[in-house]
Amino acid sequence: MPRAMRQPFWPLLAAVLAACAGDAPGGPPPFDVRPAMEAVREDAARIARLLAAGALADAVLPARRLAELRLAPGLDAPPRFRELEETFRGKAADLASALQAEDGAAAARSFDDLLLGCAACHATFRPGGAAGR
Ligand code: HEC
Repeated sequence: MPRAMRQPFWPLLAAVLAACAGDAPGGPPPFDVRPAMEAVREDAARIARLLAAGALADAVLPARRLAELRLAPGLDAPPRFRELEETFRGKAADLASALQAEDGAAAARSFDDLLLGCAACHATFRPGGAAGR
């Protein structure tokens, strides 16, 4: 193949690769999660208050709600977004178990870990990053 015909291939390849990088960091998911996030934030705040008050059993319900979180169910999302969502649900389920067992130390650790799950998703998919957790 003559050189002149091969050259245009590279910009085309770059464009195709860029289009395939649908889960690249830096953009919001293609739907609005803000209304759902308000409820998530309220449940997280509720859990923090109940943990501080030592009312572990009362925090089981909000933790279970977070373990059931489905953001924009049925809509297409980047695979990485669904992965982070799934990891988050797992962390919330661990927290619910620790709360249910009334294991305060494990619950406190799980809650910290859950907040890292918020930050992990925000760092990639929230415009402006994890700031404001
Ligand atoms: C799987 C992804 C994901 C997880 C997990 C997640 N968030 Fe979010 N959150 C987002 C995205 C994306 C936005 C940005 C939405 C936008 O601005 O369009 C956001 C925005 C927010 C906002 C701002 C909402 C607004 O009205 O602007 C709050 C508050 C928030 N998240 C709280 C939390 C808390 C607290 C947790 C953990 C307990 C959490 N989020 C876990 C994806 C996630």
